[in-house]
Formats: sequence, structure tokens, C-alpha cells
Amino acid sequence: MRIFLIGFMGSGKTTIGLPLAKQLGYQFIDQDELIEKHYSTSVGEVFAKFGEQKFRETEHNVLTEAVHSDNLVISTGGGAPCFFNNMDFMNQNGITVYLKAEPETLMNRLKNQTDSRPLLKGKNESELLQFITGKLADRESFYFQAKLVLPTDILQVEEIINKLVLSIQA
Ligand code: S3P
Repeated sequence: MRIFLIGFMGSGKTTIGLPLAKQLGYQFIDQDELIEKHYSTSVGEVFAKFGEQKFRETEHNVLTEAVHSDNLVISTGGGAPCFFNNMDFMNQNGITVYLKAEPETLMNRLKNQTDSRPLLKGKNESELLQFITGKLADRESFYFQAKLVLPTDILQVEEIINKLVLSIQA
């Protein structure tokens, strides 16, 4: 089985993905890390040097390569479901899980990480909230194509993992 965790930056894909993979005895893959390995540099540098279009192409390529393995938990980049046919591709190749969080929750989780995230660079708190609200509204038509939707605002990591494991096994 392959589990694709999708959702906005700060939705907890890696925070949930790592312990989830451990509990299931699966391999954990972080899509951004695959891109960083491919270019031997950070996501920020890839955006700066090659541009978003090239980043999205590589994001798509590493996704199609990753599914050559099974028993995986894949933490996808926040934009990945919204480009090419990535959302359909993930739905055809595993269980997609949308980790949903409200804009305010995401803003609070992301406000100290704006420098390391190319799309958030230089934004103050109100600009960040405005950006997240708009982008999330654009992206949810893709995110809601996920097989499972799990709200993460008020749940602890352990509760989310337990709910996920129960839903996957149902
Ligand atoms: C992006 C999210 C990031 C990373 C890149 C673009 C996006 O991944 O892929 O900065 O478009 O939302 P995370 O969601 O893992 O932070």
C-alpha cells in the first residue's frame, strides 16, 4: 500500500508521516527531499536558480518514480496535487489523505519559517494570512479529491495517526 499525505505547507505532512510510517513498518519518503537530492541543494535554491516551472516538473518526475516502490508513506509538497495530473496519479496509485487545517492554524505554524520557504519569503503575519487564505481556496478543489480528509487543527499527532490507521484498515 502507498499512502500519500497531501495538504498545505504547515499541515503536518512530515510530522504525521514519519511516525505513521514507523507504526505501519513502511518506508517514509519526503517529496521535497527527493527534489533536494536530485539537485543537491535546497528547495529554496531550486526555486531561485531554476524557477517554479522547473521545480514543478521535477516534483512530478520524483512522484512518478517513487511509486515504483510499495509500502510507502509519502509526504508530498503543498503544491504537488495541483500540478500536472498528480492528484489523479496519486489516487490511482494509493490512498490519498488530505491533512486539513484552517488558515489561522497554518499561519501560526508557518510564521517563523517564511525565510526557508520560497513562496512565503518576506511576508509579515497579515500578508501571510492573506496569502494562505487565497492559496488554500485555490488549492482545495484539488485537496478535496483525496480519499480521506482529516482535520488537524485541534488533534494531537497521536490521535491523527490512530484515526488514519483505523480509516485505512476499514
Ligand atoms: C510548496 C510547498 C513546499 C515545497 C515548495 C512549494 C507549495 O512543501 O514543495 O516550497 O507550493 O505549497 P511543503 O508543503 O512540504 O512545505
